[in-house]
Amino acid sequence: MANQQKISLPVIRRLPRYFRCVNELIKKGVTKVSSNELANVMGTTASQVRQDFNCFGGFGQQGIGYNTELLHSEIGKLLYGNRKLNAILIGVGSLGHTISKWITAENRGYNLTAAFDINTAIIGTTVCGAPVYDVKELTKYCTSHSTQVAVLCIPKIIAEELAPTLCNLGIKGFWNFSHYDLSVKYPNINVENVHLGDSLMTLAFLANNDNL
Ligand code: NAI
Repeated sequence: MANQQKISLPVIRRLPRYFRCVNELIKKGVTKVSSNELANVMGTTASQVRQDFNCFGGFGQQGIGYNTELLHSEIGKLLYGNRKLNAILIGVGSLGHTISKWITAENRGYNLTAAFDINTAIIGTTVCGAPVYDVKELTKYCTSHSTQVAVLCIPKIIAEELAPTLCNLGIKGFWNFSHYDLSVKYPNINVENVHLGDSLMTLAFLANNDNL
């Protein structure tokens, strides 16, 4: 990375969106895009696009437009690094089954290596190609298989119970659907909390207060 300063979270959060928008342009046959054109697609300003890209060395195409294939590939490298992350899924219920398809989707940068549950009807099956083990096997599995990310599709109380084990096993990233706020007790881990209900309630407020 050309710029050694710490990149701010809002900039990092925009990277997947750039990645997606540039991919859509490529699919439409666009080979070159200016900051202005990209800003129009993103609903932002050219200055914001340039500022964001400058955090990563600018991608070297200012003035003549960005080569979309190159830009897509460079952003992809920033997002994924050089290797896929090994992820485990904990809780293979309705949500876990749906979410597993997202973890294993192409271009997201993850291998789903194993899943864990307590339900004997699910243990021994597979989910998106990953074996489902008894959660009692979690420590044994993680000490013998390099695991970087855990996806939590379990109730809050269970997440709270499992959190010390998972953190002690050195798992550094959590995609957390459990409603248990891991980062309060474990500030050194990376957590992406997902609360679909919060999003829906925000929309309800906006819809109900349209005339404010
Ligand atoms: P579910 O009941 O279908 O699945 C939960 C799974 O967790 C079951 O397979 C169960 O056997 C397993 N489980 C229970 N205790 C366990 C343990 N100690 N170790 C491993 N696995 C264990 O429920 P669903 O719909 O899949 O939701 C899961 C959780 O995610 C719920 O607590 C729900 O509140 C939450 N949720 C969060 C959403 C969000 O946007 N953050 C959206 C939907 C659900």
